[in-house]
Amino acid sequence: MNDNLHQLRCFGCGARISGPEAQPDFRCAVCGDLFEVDYPGWGQRQGNDRPNPGALKWLWRERRCSSEELDHSGVWRFRELLPILDSFGDAVTLREGNTPLYALPRAGKALGIDQLFAKHQGMNPTGSFKDTGMTAALSVARERGFKWVACASTGNTSAAMAAYAARAGLRSLVLIPEGKIAWGKLSQAMDYGAITCQLKTDFDGCVRVLTQIVREEPIYLLNSVNPYRLEGQKTPAFEIAEAFEWTVPDHLIVPGGNLANSSALGKGFRELHELGLVARVPRITVVQAEGANPLVRSFLANQGTAMEPVEAHTRATAIRIGNPASWRKAARVIHDTGGWCLDVNETEIALAKAEIGSEGLGCEPASAVTLAGLKKLRAKGLVASGETVVLLLTGHTLKDADYTIDFHRGTLLTGQEAAGHEVEIESHRRDAVAVDATPAAVLAAMKGRMG
Ligand code: F0G
Repeated sequence: MNDNLHQLRCFGCGARISGPEAQPDFRCAVCGDLFEVDYPGWGQRQGNDRPNPGALKWLWRERRCSSEELDHSGVWRFRELLPILDSFGDAVTLREGNTPLYALPRAGKALGIDQLFAKHQGMNPTGSFKDTGMTAALSVARERGFKWVACASTGNTSAAMAAYAARAGLRSLVLIPEGKIAWGKLSQAMDYGAITCQLKTDFDGCVRVLTQIVREEPIYLLNSVNPYRLEGQKTPAFEIAEAFEWTVPDHLIVPGGNLANSSALGKGFRELHELGLVARVPRITVVQAEGANPLVRSFLANQGTAMEPVEAHTRATAIRIGNPASWRKAARVIHDTGGWCLDVNETEIALAKAEIGSEGLGCEPASAVTLAGLKKLRAKGLVASGETVVLLLTGHTLKDADYTIDFHRGTLLTGQEAAGHEVEIESHRRDAVAVDATPAAVLAAMKGRMG
């Protein structure tokens, strides 16, 4: 399993190229679609040459106790399934992955589901799931000798890229939509030393500008069109399967923005299944924000076979994306696994986020679409009470503290958004109260809020 022979296979026309042959924008020269990393050697192995599932599972678990830096990474401890580097010594790691799988007992009880879990990717080094993809793709950039890396971002990709580039000693360029990303994320890009440009456009506009730049300059593109990103982002699928002792949950629910993460997780489970490490795959459901829902519209209009871009609006800024690059891959994952594609509104997102917060976990708004989506699936009878459900929480609550504070101060949801939900909103709100600096005043404030 250690042969480094990977190829890039076009998702649209099936054309195969070697990794270094890819165009700077990672689009197929024949049909313009995206590539997937493929390992042709895996299919050719027969009999004793096939990887031994038991030995791999043992090895991956053992590595958690190893003193090697690479083994401490929740991405690279599965390196047999992502042989994308000529030398694993080139890997740039911040010890990403190995994120916790938490039970959500209160949300589970409220929904009548016994087995509800959150895989918290916000517990990665820069606070989002992007780290798992960045360790993979940035390592390829370093191995291929690039001095500059770049991304367009709604915030988390830029934070992750800037951090990994800094660790590797590479320069990084970030393009973000002005005024439309959370401050926590912007501060990270600055802190880690990226050149950060705020453009007067949206995320999709930033992608267009960056695509032109990388076609002209020797800068390595680290948006999720880069197929190596997905190789890292598939590894939480391995961790989830491992956490369930290599059975898999019935449902995995993932937020959808540029739609790479759902594609990556689908690939991860598919590969585990093809290699005989798991007996089946979970249904993978993608949830978008109502104001940024091009894939949902596409499923309603034509079963996900064609997609029209939309102008995106949502306070969950991480998924404010109207023209998602990986929509075809995500649509296939939904079809192949028997999942669904649905959207949730701003009120549903805010309430779900508050519920996750009240379990002591917290997450950023884009992650909370998963619980909001689960409520809808449950109401439609698409998730049974005895089934096991994993929500993928993609970002840390501190990424967007303004959103949380606005919710608890009562300034986030007003007017139409709040209408009809006042009681539920009030039951979750916990504003910070200003009181006199005396024990009596503090105790009085507590009494007013107890019971
Ligand atoms: N959740 C969070 C917290 C995100 O930052 C993103 C994407 C998503 C969900 C959606 O994942 O794009 O793979 O469908 N953020 C990107 C960025 C686009 O630039 O940070 P996706």
